[in-house]
Amino acid sequence: MKKIFLCMAMIGMLAACDAPAPKNYSELPEPLPESEGELLFLESKCPVCHGYQGAGNGFLSAGLKPQPLDFSSAVVMAEISDPQLQAAIRNGKSSAMPAYAQFTDGQLAELTRYIRSLSK
Ligand code: HEC
Repeated sequence: MKKIFLCMAMIGMLAACDAPAPKNYSELPEPLPESEGELLFLESKCPVCHGYQGAGNGFLSAGLKPQPLDFSSAVVMAEISDPQLQAAIRNGKSSAMPAYAQFTDGQLAELTRYIRSLSK
């Protein structure tokens, strides 16, 4: 009888020491980038001005004139073509938008695809 009790207590202790299951990536506060375009967008720090969802509300955006476009708005994005988006990224603008001449055509295409996906 005593032995059984001891055994039960040990099983209970083992259960209590059980390590928590590893976290799912989807439960982390910042999910991993899902595409090349998203990775480029994040790594190049575009969100400081354009915002993480591309809404044009990054923390540096408040003082900018003109403000970045709202990439999350389908209405706004219908007004601008892919070549216009890519030219803005590659050459910059006369405003706060820097030139990113280092991107290849493929990277520009991936970035454009990602920016377009933000309004869907
Ligand atoms: C320092 C702030 C800043 C950073 C960093 C920045 N942008 Fe911009 N971006 C702007 C502003 C401001 C405009 C609006 C420019 C204008 O209309 O003259 C703009 C314009 C654009 C446009 C043209 C559409 C529009 O909003 O007028 C695209 C596309 C764009 N940015 C993409 C990017 C990408 C991609 C990155 C990162 C690789 C990036 N930007 C980084 C500030 C920034």
